[in-house]
Amino acid sequence: MKKSLIVNISQLATVQNTTSPITGDYAKKLAIYSDVKLEISDGKFSRIILNDEKIDLAEYNEIIDAEHQCVLPGLVDSHTHCVFPAYRDDEFDLRLKGATYLEILENGGGILASSDKLSKTSADQLLTDLIKRLDTMISYGTTCVEIKSGYGLSFDNEIKMLEVIREANKKHIIDIVPTFMGAHAIPGNFKGNTKGYISEIKRMIDEVSEKKLAVFNDIFCEKGVFSVDESREILEYGKSKGLLPKIHADEIVPLGASELACEVGAISAEHLLATTDKSIEMLSEYGVIANLLPVTALFLMKEPARARKFIESNCAVAISSDCNPGSSMTESMQLVIAIACLNMKLTIEEAIVAATFNAACAIDKQQVLGSIEPGKQADCIIIRGDNYRILPYHIGMNNVSGVVKKGNYLRIPSLVTIN
Ligand code: NIG
Ligand code: FE
Repeated sequence: MKKSLIVNISQLATVQNTTSPITGDYAKKLAIYSDVKLEISDGKFSRIILNDEKIDLAEYNEIIDAEHQCVLPGLVDSHTHCVFPAYRDDEFDLRLKGATYLEILENGGGILASSDKLSKTSADQLLTDLIKRLDTMISYGTTCVEIKSGYGLSFDNEIKMLEVIREANKKHIIDIVPTFMGAHAIPGNFKGNTKGYISEIKRMIDEVSEKKLAVFNDIFCEKGVFSVDESREILEYGKSKGLLPKIHADEIVPLGASELACEVGAISAEHLLATTDKSIEMLSEYGVIANLLPVTALFLMKEPARARKFIESNCAVAISSDCNPGSSMTESMQLVIAIACLNMKLTIEEAIVAATFNAACAIDKQQVLGSIEPGKQADCIIIRGDNYRILPYHIGMNNVSGVVKKGNYLRIPSLVTIN
């Protein structure tokens, strides 16, 4: 048995003793220790040991020195589109000059531009690029990431994307949770024939389910994309094939996607920039997790989601990066936490809960990860500072000095030393 011990921890902060998403009085749910060591056995947390307890260091194969820094659970990024063929910095520039996201979509840019390029990009190239992004993510403290397809928009290319995600999951130490999102846009060859594309999506779902290529089925329920009725049809079909529903809801227009999330029993509804008070109450009542994307709102220069309203309504809030070339080009969950605090007015404790435990709940992983508790997978981060406040405070920088992934310690260098 491999045993490791993390010593010289200035502070350890984590959610504890819950298996369901945290709602309401968030901050009180963060347990904070200032006098402990952390024991890991065979890739799992085994004990939080008080410093005055006698232990035999010779029992351990590895001693990890936290150097009087703070230890937190690994960050969980529960919403990304990080398999893509190229940046879209040209659109970013156009948007800065006044073009809207919908105008760009309507002119064949946006998702369709990525889809066109993706069809001409080999699986090998997509995998190489994805692995680089996963390296960046883990070095910024993300230890588990959800990744959606949705730039394929044809049978072959959607399956290609999901196979790339599966390969990356085998090759990379980061954990990946795959989501099918064939319903991300209507491809050009089905313009004016949404019914035809829905039939095609159902054929894709059959294959995805047969080959077990995804856990979730997500959809862009939005004006000009998929209507509520079309979304219901696709999500119900996915459910009948074992795929759990998720919804991109109320990003631009409140069409009724949040209500649909409740109706179909979605695990989470994402974006929620335009959600009405009534829908927020309903999401709370049905236990649908509100997965908010603070960097996306900033990147699209929009008002952020009303996170305080969600929390006051006892709705569980997760936050994630939405990493994609169109509306949020970042791999950094540290930036997401900072913007969640600054623009959505989450407290630091609420943001940490939203980026760890509640994020794990949003991808149905809360039994295995999302908190530092005996029996859970040993995923944690060591941050450059003696307390967790540093994470959003030292904004835009990489505050992670070490990552422990399934018990394996990765040191993240801060400086290039020239001798
Ligand atoms: O979550 N809203 C739809 N999908 C993505 C954007 C993808 C893109 O622009 O390429 C999102 O923001
Ligand atoms: Fe998204």
